[in-house]
Amino acid sequence: MQVTLKVFRYNPEKDKKPHYDVFTLDDVEPTERVLDLLERVKGLQDGTLTFRRSCAHGVCGSDAMRINGQNRLACKTLVQDVGTKITVEPLLGLPVIKDMIVDMEPFFDNYRSVMPFFINNDPPPKKERLQSPEARERFDDTTKCILCAACTTSCPSFWANGQYVGPAAIVNAHRFIFDDRDQAAKERLEILAGQFGVYRCRTIFNCTVACPREIQITKAIGEVKEAIATGRLD
Ligand code: SF4
Ligand code: F3S
Ligand code: FES
Repeated sequence: MQVTLKVFRYNPEKDKKPHYDVFTLDDVEPTERVLDLLERVKGLQDGTLTFRRSCAHGVCGSDAMRINGQNRLACKTLVQDVGTKITVEPLLGLPVIKDMIVDMEPFFDNYRSVMPFFINNDPPPKKERLQSPEARERFDDTTKCILCAACTTSCPSFWANGQYVGPAAIVNAHRFIFDDRDQAAKERLEILAGQFGVYRCRTIFNCTVACPREIQITKAIGEVKEAIATGRLD
């Protein structure tokens, strides 16, 4: 089949403003991925096309972009799922560096602000810090995040104010808040109860729809709100 790929282009060193280029690709298989099409354009038609990718298998989170208006991973999006007229654009809400590449630093600043790491100041036991299967299950869903930013950059509250920590940061805070071996839940909940924390979430659900790992993000945000309101972590 023939596919038309309309691509957002912006090179701040040359362009006054962004524009779109249209590429025609022949003999495309329906099971090819949008990432394959971008690689084809870069390899055969325009080597200046710029986008991030690494694993090409939905693991590293580097190739999140807007595909026909919806945040997706290019390496997990098949042509047969989006049709023969495909538009690819960078994520919204983060500054564009070039073409599909956005500056991820504001996203990672928000991520770092919630202390997304294990904290336990007790002396380590001889072997390991044991945890029951039930306690591990409590935060299983939020361990799956690959930090692709598809959720946060689909959230209108984040578009309105980039200081909102955003759903990805809350997901990663949730992963430690509900880990019964961790000792810093109180500090994280205090941060998330603040001006740019969970109450900026208006339950819009774009984040949950966008997540390539199918994490129940809005549910996780609700659980954090409940923990702040009740002081309970069960
Ligand atoms: Fe990506 Fe999902 Fe993690 Fe958000 S929660 S950064 S969409 S993997
Ligand atoms: Fe935004 Fe998701 Fe809440 S889209 S408003 S963080 S439910
Ligand atoms: Fe790694 Fe797509 S290239 S997730």
